[in-house]
Amino acid sequence: MNELAEKLNETLGDAAEFLSPLGRRMYFPYGGILGQGAEARACRVNATIGMAFEEDGSPLVMDCMAANLGIDKSAFLYAGSFGLPALRDKWCELQVAKNKSLEGVRYSRPVVTNALTHGLRIAAELFAAPGDEVVVPDLFWDNYSLIFEEAAGARLHLFNTFREGRFDAAAMKEALLSGDAPKKLLVLNFPNNPTGYTATLDDAREIVAAVAEVAAAGRRVVVVLDDAYYGLVYEAGVHGESLFAEFAGLSPNVLAVKLDGVTKEDYAWGLRVGFIAFAFQGATDEQLKALEAKAAGDVRSGVSNINSVGQRLALAAFASPDYTAQKREKYAVLKRRYHEIRTILRLHPEYADFFEVMPFNSGYFMCVRPKGVDAEAVRRRLIDGYSTGTIVLSGLIRVAFSTTPTAKLAQLFADVAAAVADCRDRKDVQ
Ligand SMILES: Cc1ncc(COP(=O)(O)O)c(C=O)c1O
Repeated sequence: MNELAEKLNETLGDAAEFLSPLGRRMYFPYGGILGQGAEARACRVNATIGMAFEEDGSPLVMDCMAANLGIDKSAFLYAGSFGLPALRDKWCELQVAKNKSLEGVRYSRPVVTNALTHGLRIAAELFAAPGDEVVVPDLFWDNYSLIFEEAAGARLHLFNTFREGRFDAAAMKEALLSGDAPKKLLVLNFPNNPTGYTATLDDAREIVAAVAEVAAAGRRVVVVLDDAYYGLVYEAGVHGESLFAEFAGLSPNVLAVKLDGVTKEDYAWGLRVGFIAFAFQGATDEQLKALEAKAAGDVRSGVSNINSVGQRLALAAFASPDYTAQKREKYAVLKRRYHEIRTILRLHPEYADFFEVMPFNSGYFMCVRPKGVDAEAVRRRLIDGYSTGTIVLSGLIRVAFSTTPTAKLAQLFADVAAAVADCRDRKDVQ
C-alpha cells in the first residue's frame, strides 16, 4: 500500500475500519506534481504547471472560449449522461477534420467526460479488474498510479520508454507478452507528459506492428490512447495524428479507447470537458452503441452528468468563426518556445556536462536528467537558490515551457546547469 495511504489510515485509527479496500488504498498525492507545484508558487519562474500562460503571465486562453459566459438559461439544464448531442457530433466532426486517418474509420460517438482524468477513470473501471496488468512506459503522468492502481486495483507494468533516443517499442511488446494474462491494458500518451515526446512515424509503425503481433498471438489488448495534448507537435517526421485510427481496425483482439478533450489542446483546463470513444475491428453499430452506453452508465453512476455550462462554452467556441485562427495563434506561442529551447541547447553544448536532454518534440513540457546528482536535490536547489519551480518525475526534471515566457527560458536552463553544479559542489550526490 502507498505510504501516504498508510499514513491517512493510521491517522484514522479505528475509524479506518469503516473503509472499503479502495477507501484504504486511496490517498492524496501531496508529494507528486501537485505538492511540488505548491512549493514553487512563490517562485520568480514557475515551470511546474500543466497549463499555459502568455508571455505577460496571463492565462493563454482563446477569446472565443471566454466570449460566451453570458450564455442563455438552457445552460442550467441537465446535459444528460452521454453529454450534449450537438457537442458530441461537433467533436466527432472536428476529430475527423484533425485526423485525416480517421476518415472512413468506424468508431463510437464520443461520450462526454469530466475531462481526461475522468475518461481515464472510466476506462479503468470498464476494462481493468483488480490484479489486471496495465502496461505503461516508465515515464508517465503520475495520476495513472492513482487511477489504475489505487482506484481500480490493477497493477502498472512499466517498460523502458526510450532506447537510443527513440520510443522502445520492443520493450513495450515484451511487457505485453510477459506472463500469460489473456488480456492487458496498454496506455499510450502522445504528446507525452512528462517528456514532451510524440512517436515518430517510424516509432508509430513499430508500436502498431508490436500490438498486432501480440494480438495475433491470441492476447487481448485494450489500447487506451491518452490524447490530452493532441495536435501540439513541433517537428516534421512526428506522428501528428492519434494512433486511434490505426488501432481501430487492427484486430478483433484489440479494443481502442480514445481519450481527448478541450483541456490542453484548446487551452481550457478548468472547463472540464473531455471525451471517450471506442473502436475495434469489425465492430457493429450496436456494439459501439453498447460501449457508449457502458461509458454513459459509468458517468451516471459517478457524477450523473457533466457540467452543462462547460459543454455549451466549448460548443460556442467551436462555432466561432475565429476558433481556427485563435487556436493557431496559441499553438504558435508554444511552438516558438519549443524552438527557443532548441536554440538555447544548441548554443550551450557545455550544458551536456550537467544534464542529459531527454527526447522531446511536442506538447507542453521537456525533461532533463541531471548528471551525477539527484534530481530532487536539484529541484530544491532551483527553488531555494534560483527562485525557479520545476517538477521531478521518475528521476527527471520536467520543465513546463507552456508556462515560461520565451524571454526567461535562456536563464532557466543556465540556472538548471548552475543548480546541478551547486549540488555537486556540496557533494549532494546520491
Ligand atoms: C497525460 C495527461 N493525461 C490526462 C491529463 C488530465 O487532464 P484533464 O485536466 O483533462 O483531466 C493530464 C493533465 O495533466 C495529462 O498530463
